[in-house]
Amino acid sequence: MSKEYWAHVDINRVPYIHTELPGPKSVEYHTRAAKLMKGYSSQVRLFPVAFESGYGCVLTDVDGNRYIDFSSGIFVTGLGHCHPKISEAVAAQAKKLMNCHDFTTEIKMKLLEKLAATTMGDLNGIQLYDSGTTAVEAALRCARAVTGKFEFMSFWRDFHGKTMGAVSCAGVDATQGMRAPGFFLSPRPNCYRCPFRMKHPECGCYCADFLEQKIKQETTGRLAGIILEPVQGWGGSVIPPPEFIPKLRKLCDKLGCMLIADEVLTCMGRTGKMFAMQHWDTIPDIMTLGKGFGNGFPVTAMCVSDKYKEAIEKISASSSYGGNPMACAAALASIEVIEEENLCERSAYLGEILLKRMQKIKEAHPLVGDVRGIGCLLAIELVKNRETKEEYVEAGQMVYREAFKRGLAWVPSGHILRLSPQFIMEDDVAMKGMDIIEEAIDVTEKTLGVF
Ligand SMILES: Cc1ncc(COP(=O)(O)O)c(C=O)c1O
Repeated sequence: MSKEYWAHVDINRVPYIHTELPGPKSVEYHTRAAKLMKGYSSQVRLFPVAFESGYGCVLTDVDGNRYIDFSSGIFVTGLGHCHPKISEAVAAQAKKLMNCHDFTTEIKMKLLEKLAATTMGDLNGIQLYDSGTTAVEAALRCARAVTGKFEFMSFWRDFHGKTMGAVSCAGVDATQGMRAPGFFLSPRPNCYRCPFRMKHPECGCYCADFLEQKIKQETTGRLAGIILEPVQGWGGSVIPPPEFIPKLRKLCDKLGCMLIADEVLTCMGRTGKMFAMQHWDTIPDIMTLGKGFGNGFPVTAMCVSDKYKEAIEKISASSSYGGNPMACAAALASIEVIEEENLCERSAYLGEILLKRMQKIKEAHPLVGDVRGIGCLLAIELVKNRETKEEYVEAGQMVYREAFKRGLAWVPSGHILRLSPQFIMEDDVAMKGMDIIEEAIDVTEKTLGVF
């Protein structure tokens, strides 16, 4: 926020809350909207505020209340809301050409060249889409086209989107639908809640060994790919132990199937590197990008290893909106901003100081069972009892509301407080956000009698 283009945001006056929350206009707008719009997220249902504007790391609601943003939309706007370079690039394109099917434009050519130069290894076969889900679907089609096989393996509590194929890979919510035939789920490492009740490193990363057995026992042997979130986002910033992803790479090579890294949430600096797979020096065969890729503009991508270029010519990439000129302008400007402002480094640094503060909060508050994070992808897990680790959903909802009321916009889920601050946030603003979270935890402990 130190940049001159955020100068109009008086960060010293944030948070600023001058009405009951949600305020009167929020209540009116949301009541009218919710009569028609069904299926709001739990975050909105628990705190139905209506927003008007966002600049940098500050969100303003329709009643003029100002919040520090620890949500980045939903893990999206890490470079700051309405970053002028990105907004101007989109606006300029919107005045020139909005849509021309999948014909080439100058801005698309430039984005493709920039992205190819940015991705690891030879992930230079690119298709552009308009949501994370459609990029994931393309990745599944691509893996089938390359291997001629049809089965997929994915992991407990990973999330990949809401269409039939993506839902079939996700172990999240039974109400989203039945898993299609040929899709299998395996436990993934979560060292705070080990699915095999083992201890790392003595376990030797048994999750990876179990996966091999599961594939052998349960599939027909025609596995097209293994898809995973390198760091689990929705599931609460769960970071795999060092050997897990390299072991998956070896297994995919052995079985002749594609390793698909779904980086929709983790890409573009969110974990402190441009792509999360770089933490494990592992190059996937297919990678999906979304969320931060356009810093708020709906643009996503599927990138596949150059050696499979011919096979993926078979899966047409054209769609109504994928790679439209505005989308390309947003994505190109976003990559340039990350590079010009060293925002991967900034995300790594901010994540480190936040995690240190979270560790202190854990020491002081028995409600907190675990804290973890990598870059600006962080989580605090609330438990009824540190021994049993029983999930405390009611406490999570209370902390969420108490912090929001004090001027922190964020996206916890159930008993997990998810933190995805904007990388451009100043240290003292980030610490103000943590003060609010600690106060909300304190109030919740007192209310629920947790000592
Ligand atoms: C890892 C991952 N993949 C895919 C998706 C789906 O993206 P979208 O909501 O843009 O369709 C998400 C969304 O949260 C995600 O986190």
